[in-house]
Amino acid sequence: MNARAVLATAPEIRANPLREESVTLKAADPCTFVVFGASGDLTHRKLIPALFRLSKQKLLHPQTAIVGFARREWTNEQFREEMKHAVESAGASPSEWERFAGALFYQSGVFEDHAAFRALGQLLSKVEEERGVPGNRIFHFATPPSEYATLVRNIGAAGLARRALRDDHAVPWSRVIIEKPFGRDLQSARDLNALVHTVFAERQVYRIDHYLGKETVQNILVFRLGNGIFEPLWNNRYVEQVQITVAESVGIEGRAAYFDTAGISRDIFQNHMMQLLTLTAMEPPARFEADSVRDEKAKVLRTLHPMTREEVARDTVRAQYAAGAAGGTPVPGYCEEPGVNPRSQTETYMAARIHVDNWRWSGVPFFLRAGKRLAKRSTEIAIVFRQPPFALFRSAGCETLEANVLRLRIQPDEGISLSFGSKSPGQALHIDPVQMDFYYLTAFGQDPPDAYERLLLDCNLGDSTLFARRDEVELAWEFVDGIQIAWRSGAPPLVKYAAGTWGPPQADELLAASGSRWYRL
Ligand code: BG6
Repeated sequence: MNARAVLATAPEIRANPLREESVTLKAADPCTFVVFGASGDLTHRKLIPALFRLSKQKLLHPQTAIVGFARREWTNEQFREEMKHAVESAGASPSEWERFAGALFYQSGVFEDHAAFRALGQLLSKVEEERGVPGNRIFHFATPPSEYATLVRNIGAAGLARRALRDDHAVPWSRVIIEKPFGRDLQSARDLNALVHTVFAERQVYRIDHYLGKETVQNILVFRLGNGIFEPLWNNRYVEQVQITVAESVGIEGRAAYFDTAGISRDIFQNHMMQLLTLTAMEPPARFEADSVRDEKAKVLRTLHPMTREEVARDTVRAQYAAGAAGGTPVPGYCEEPGVNPRSQTETYMAARIHVDNWRWSGVPFFLRAGKRLAKRSTEIAIVFRQPPFALFRSAGCETLEANVLRLRIQPDEGISLSFGSKSPGQALHIDPVQMDFYYLTAFGQDPPDAYERLLLDCNLGDSTLFARRDEVELAWEFVDGIQIAWRSGAPPLVKYAAGTWGPPQADELLAASGSRWYRL
């Protein structure tokens, strides 16, 4: 049985007199977004639509310019025509499109070519002069990671960026946005950080993890720290275990060349899952500003119990999908996907029991799982609470009680729910789990905006709270490296699961060994 109580409705929230006052946005600075990889998928699917929507909402400065750089020999007009398709889904009226298109410019060139970077420099100066942009620049690396080092070197050599001495906000400022994966292990991340720092100071570097731009992920901290009733329970006295799931129903979506060298551990676990973990486990920051928040997140990563080879063998599961079905349609196994080595040992699923060795979380297992081609798309954090200290209702025949579970639904059906036991109507005493639900859509009357909108605007505003700092990225790699190294010795072995299921039985056994189970999504 499942009772539902809607906690808040749209009219109640709209009627809240405090709401208007709390929404204050800083004005954006005029700047030029320089997009490397402008003919690629990320630019088309995410960056241009996000910039368009920001411009449509008048959240970007009207003088903002966007300069694309890629190998294709396009003119400005051809670039605009291509990008027109990209914003179609964002609902552009002809006049909105005209205004936005006027801000788009293009420079063709290969990333290794110094002359192309000098030409880019000339184009930037010209565009800045024409549009009255005072030289503020955001360089966005929307390219395969293998290009990052070349881009940094050539931006430096062509003198396109200005190194921030003390104040990143002093005009003209330069900032760089770097997509994940940032490195493929600790050493390569360190090397890349060192190279980036030859051109940009750390406060100019915005390492994107798009999960941090999701409203529901930002709401983890608001929920925990903005509501007096939950924070007192957020520790090992009341929490029995935490489960974090990033489940996808899609496969590798034609990205074999990248995914086969990465696997789910590098694609999702090292970044998105570690970010969800740190936000769930961190201490309250001294202030709600970039470095205080990131200091606390880094501390969680420092307290992760480094797994020994034996612990990796016992407490992790790695698996690869075999043929199965997705939405009722047969789909091939991972090794049959175009471009994948038929003998590939790359994992498309992993699960792990990990421990945060600190005062707050000592003894509380964190169960993490991520996978491609699972039964459904669902990202969720489940906080499972301990049972009451005394089984009062046992004498009345209620032997077992379901644990109270608080679910933070990151996507889809964005929201939060809390399950608890309730007496079901009738003469006999029966306790059934019921649920209180909050849905973003019902409460706020709209779906949360796309993560990239928030992140691109924050970069323009010079707010790096929602970007990964150097130490966070390196600490996350250090932890994942420990698992990777142990996996290379063959334990646990790579197992298979049928596409469209919830993963291999070994993942259920991991929970069963702790007397538990994965909570249903
Ligand atoms: C990306 C991964 O970072 O995140 C993809 O590279 C994955 O493999 C994607 O599909 C998931 O993002 P979202 O926002 O759809 O959960």
